[in-house]
Amino acid sequence: MAFLARLTQRLFHPHTDGHDLTTNLDDPINLPNLPRMPTPILELKHVGCSKAKGQPIFTNVNFTVNEGDVVIFQGKSGSGKSTLLKCLAHLNLYEGEILYRGSTPVSHGIPSFRTRVLYVPQRPSLLPGTPRDFINTVLSFKSLDPKNKGNEHNPTGPFDPYTEPIAIGKEWGVDEELWDRTWTNLSGGEAQRIALAIAVGIRSADILLLDEPTSALDADSSIRVERFLTDAVRAKDGGLSALVWITHSAEQGGRVGTRFLRIAGGCVQEERPDLGV
Ligand SMILES: Nc1ncnc2c1ncn2[C@@H]1O[C@H](COP(=O)(O)OP(=O)(O)O)[C@@H](O)[C@H]1O
Ligand SMILES: [Mg+2]
Repeated sequence: MAFLARLTQRLFHPHTDGHDLTTNLDDPINLPNLPRMPTPILELKHVGCSKAKGQPIFTNVNFTVNEGDVVIFQGKSGSGKSTLLKCLAHLNLYEGEILYRGSTPVSHGIPSFRTRVLYVPQRPSLLPGTPRDFINTVLSFKSLDPKNKGNEHNPTGPFDPYTEPIAIGKEWGVDEELWDRTWTNLSGGEAQRIALAIAVGIRSADILLLDEPTSALDADSSIRVERFLTDAVRAKDGGLSALVWITHSAEQGGRVGTRFLRIAGGCVQEERPDLGV
């Protein structure tokens, strides 16, 4: 109470008594540990999506992803998880409103928005050429604006978006020679790690939308990927602020998640694991 009284005095009555004011200003104020206001990245307002007229996949989804969130998104196969992630990246038509950092995707410019709100599919679709060709193509897009920072792989020089994905791949057990093999000659697990290493390594994304990112990986590789991604969000390494992560593994959700969403019967709800809800 004494603290509040002093704070009120300073805020609303700064000139009441010059002597007291000087004395008070010299005293340290011990701010209580107030919770910090979360910073919204993506806001979903009444979002819905249908297969066809009268066949909704989900309706009226209201949710906000904040900086620092690792949102675990679960639900049965076919319930609409991938569809919702694609709506978030403006890759699917939807009803309602999705705001990124307070503005619509259109006002950001869709190509630029999609490099900041980056959807990483479960399996890279049938891409031509090699992963290295793919990096070159992606980096030729004008909309891409990777942050030019030093990093642990190249601490003295500037961040190199051409080599960073390869360095990350190495940490996840992907040999450099695989970057010059055609996509069609990579195993599911190799292609999955490479696609993810590109998404993280080019450092364009503010938020990654991960569609079952470790579904083709063994337990060891999964844990390496999990640690890397959650550390990157905690450290804001490369500008990454949050993840939305579809997984069928409750164990994985428990290891990486800070918030939990479930979709069932066309409704998306936040779960509070601590309350067993
Ligand atoms: N392009 C599409 N056209 C029509 N129906 C689709 C399309 N994509 C997905 N669906 C349907 O929408 C529902 C949700 O699919 P999806 O989002 O892929 O589910 P999940 O990722 O949870 O397994 C499914 O019934 C699926 O068949
Ligand atoms: Mg899916």
